[in-house]
Amino acid sequence: MKKTNLILLLPAILLILQLASCKHDPDLSVLPVNPDPPEPTIGCDPDSVYFVNTVFPLIQSSCAMSGCHDAATAREGVVLTDYYRIMITGEVNPGNAGDSKIYEVLNEDGEDRMPPPPAQPLNADQKAIIAKWINQGAHNNACTETNCDTLNVTFSGIIMPIVQTNCSGCHSGASPGGGISLTNYNGVEAIASTGQLLGVVKHLTGYRPMPPSGQLSDCQIAQINKWITNGKPNN
Ligand code: HEC
Repeated sequence: MKKTNLILLLPAILLILQLASCKHDPDLSVLPVNPDPPEPTIGCDPDSVYFVNTVFPLIQSSCAMSGCHDAATAREGVVLTDYYRIMITGEVNPGNAGDSKIYEVLNEDGEDRMPPPPAQPLNADQKAIIAKWINQGAHNNACTETNCDTLNVTFSGIIMPIVQTNCSGCHSGASPGGGISLTNYNGVEAIASTGQLLGVVKHLTGYRPMPPSGQLSDCQIAQINKWITNGKPNN
């Protein structure tokens, strides 16, 4: 079957899987492992939450790592490595965050809370991103920033939100990735000073590409660059 046909059929496959899942576990093997990303809209609506730009990187860094919900580990059968698996195994109910497993577990107590202790819970902004995306219909959407703001790059308004969405999940807690904690200004400033921050996000030779799931947008990289050239203000 041609790839495009398969993509067109995916909503139907998804529905069948969801119906089937009432009785037994859905057969994820029929889904493509790396589905093509959606065509981005030109320009990002500030009132919309985009799956590819924000939700996917957040889930990748907070949930889909090895030992948790990557394909190999698949704790409790939950695999959060791509849109379709997030929708099905995360039991996303488009339009209703309150009735979506992937959102509910963010607020559970004790061991049931995701990510589970000793990992940090998602913060209020991160939870709001997931809820808003689901309530807006949980679309597989993407956008390309056309008005990249590199003039007003503050740490709190731009840099830390980029880090929280794309890095903090792996770079926090008792054993952060590479021993590097990126949960506050000091942590981010430290890797900016050594050149590692630009090295990893620009995929420069000699650095491990970060985040591992895919490169930040050109706009985000330009904003990080600008913040560093500005002297890394804690503003
Ligand atoms: C999915 C988990 C994950 C995410 C998301 C992630 N990292 Fe990492 N990072 C790691 C791990 C694990 C290491 C340790 C090296 C390794 O084993 O690859 C690491 C290493 C690093 C290093 C040291 C490696 C070097 O070449 O200097 C830096 C700096 C870094 N990460 C920054 C970031 C930044 C900045 C982001 C977000 C833009 C990010 N990471 C996102 C897991 C992650």
